[in-house]
Parts: sequence; structure tokens; C-alpha cells
Amino acid sequence: MPSNQELPSVFRDLRLPVVGSPLFIVSNPKLVIAQCCAGIVGSFPALNAREKDGDPIALEAWLREITEALDAWNQANPDTPAAPYAVNQIVHRSNTRLERDLEICAKWNVPIWITSLGARVEVNEAAHSCGGIALHDIINNTFAKKAISKGADGLIAVAAGAGGHAGPQSPFALVQEIRDWFDGPLLLAGAIATGGGVLAAQAMGADLAYIGSPFIATDEANAAPAYKQMIAEYGAEDIVTSSLFTGVSGNYLKPSIAAAGMDPDALESADVKSMNFGDGSSKPKAWSQVWGAGQGIGAVKSVGPARAVVDRLAQEYLAARERLL
Ligand SMILES: Cc1cc2nc3c(=O)[nH]c(=O)nc-3n(C[C@H](O)[C@H](O)[C@H](O)COP(=O)(O)O)c2cc1C
Repeated sequence: MPSNQELPSVFRDLRLPVVGSPLFIVSNPKLVIAQCCAGIVGSFPALNAREKDGDPIALEAWLREITEALDAWNQANPDTPAAPYAVNQIVHRSNTRLERDLEICAKWNVPIWITSLGARVEVNEAAHSCGGIALHDIINNTFAKKAISKGADGLIAVAAGAGGHAGPQSPFALVQEIRDWFDGPLLLAGAIATGGGVLAAQAMGADLAYIGSPFIATDEANAAPAYKQMIAEYGAEDIVTSSLFTGVSGNYLKPSIAAAGMDPDALESADVKSMNFGDGSSKPKAWSQVWGAGQGIGAVKSVGPARAVVDRLAQEYLAARERLL
């Protein structure tokens, strides 16, 4: 297992071994900047930056805003520099923007590239062309091997209980099988929401934790107030796994499904062919009020600034280390 010193240099000076994961619609420059300035990697899906026909390219504006804000932070706070940021590319045939977005990200020297839903050589090459590293998210060992064979530098193991398109496997099983053959950067996702959870991911063999749902309940997140409140109020029993909404199995808040007029305990399944990222979404408009979240949300007690989430994780991480040592 690599020690911290062997990790790619982008991960070496983090306050905490955590990546704030990309969240469709929810992640925006404000959240990314707050995460990075608090000392963890912040990220967003490129498809979140959308413009109307004829408007300047939003992705370019977002990358400028993030780059300038992090530069300004670093000048004002040389002792606590910002963490690097990541951009997520949905590598699915229905993502018609992919080629354009790769070019823009290479032009802006994006330091960390996260790919999901498809491993492609040219995406990894685009990341390497500007000195970036490419991490690919996977839900099993077969996809992990495929991702590395196509040139990804590291893996994000998405285990059971994760928000979004979670995998079905236990994190223990997933990490142990990957660590059998892979000693590169390995991130673990799935219901990690406390500092103790971050340390547990490392104890298991992962290098960093990949955390999404707790950042939905932040001031900076682009989410409806009722969505943020649900994350703060509910827990693992209030999450249901269903393929109905995007064609792929994902985790959702039961109360949001009930509010949309459906019975969350009697959902039909859907066909994977219904996935479509052409307009940035894979979810029909009628279900835009059906909200995704992972099983870890019981750790989130209130809505507040993203920095407060990172502070809590950092305190808990240190306390967990002390407890064990
Ligand atoms: C609302 C929501 C939207 C998501 N959107 C994306 C996305 O656009 N791209 C992606 O790679 N992962 C997406 N994910 C998955 C997360 O990046 C990450 O794998 C997951 O949140 C980790 O589990 P956790 O929420 O339990 O921490 C999404 C997750 C949620 C909850």
C-alpha cells in the first residue's frame, strides 16, 4: 500500500485525506472553492456548467472563477494553501459535450480529472497532456482492471450505500480485491460521513475518502432548501435503492419520492437504455424533485458552511486516531 509520500503530489498537502465528490446539479464553483480553501479536494461535474445558446461557455467561466479564487486564497494564506480541485467528466456516449469539455479542461490545466460511466484512453490522455492525473470510478474489480488498462492513474471504488449510482459491494470486499493487484492511488466512496469513517477507509487500504452527500447540506451547495433539510433530518433507513429514475441503480431519499407522489417501497425498475446525458441530466424532468443521497447522512445534523463540515471531519479524524493509537 502506498504511503502518503508515494501518492501523486496533488494529494500530498491536504489537511485531510478527503475528496469532496462531484454532485450533479449540486456542485458549483462556490462549493468547490469552499472545499479547497478548507483543505480538501473540491470537485464538480463539467456538465453542471451549462449555458443557453449564444452565451459564453460556462465551463470556461467556472474554471476561471475557481482558479482566481484559489490563487487569491493562496496569496492571502500562504500557511494554509488551498487544496487542488477536480473536474468530473461523464464518459457516456450520450454526453455530446465531452470532446469540447476535455479541450477546455486541458487549456485550464485542471489538476485532477475524475471520469465516470466509461473508461476511455483519450480522456486519460487529455488529463496527462496538461500534467493532470486521471481517476476513474468503478463498482467492481473487473471495471477497476479495465480502467487501469485504459490508462487511468487511480481508482475510486464506489461501494454500497453511496449517493448517486452506488455499487452493490461491501467496501471491505471491494478494497481488498483491488489492493490484491493495484498499489496506486485508491479512493473509497460510500456512506463515509465522519472523520472516523475517513480513517477506517485508510485502515482498509484506501488512500483517501470520497465524500458526497454531506456536502449537499451546505450553504454553498446548489440544492433546494428542502433537500438540504432532508439530508440533515434523515438517516440510512430513509434511503432506497432504485433504477427507476435514471435506468441505473442509485440511492434516493424516500421522503422526496413520497413527496413526488410515489410509494418509495414499491418502485418499479427501469431499463439501462433510458440513460441519457445529452442535456446534462439522466433523469426525466418529472423526477427532478426526487433527490439522491447516500446512507451516511445520519452524521449530518444541520445545514451550514462547507468549511464546518470539513472542520468536523478533521476533528473527528484526529479523535479517532488518538482513540486507536
Ligand atoms: C445528488 C448526487 C449527485 C451525484 N452526481 C454525480 C455526478 O454527476 N458524477 C459522478 O461521478 N458522481 C456523482 N454522484 C456520486 C458522488 O460523486 C459519490 O460517488 C457519492 O456521493 C459518494 O457517496 P456518499 O454520497 O455516500 O458520500 C452523485 C451523488 C449524489 C448524491
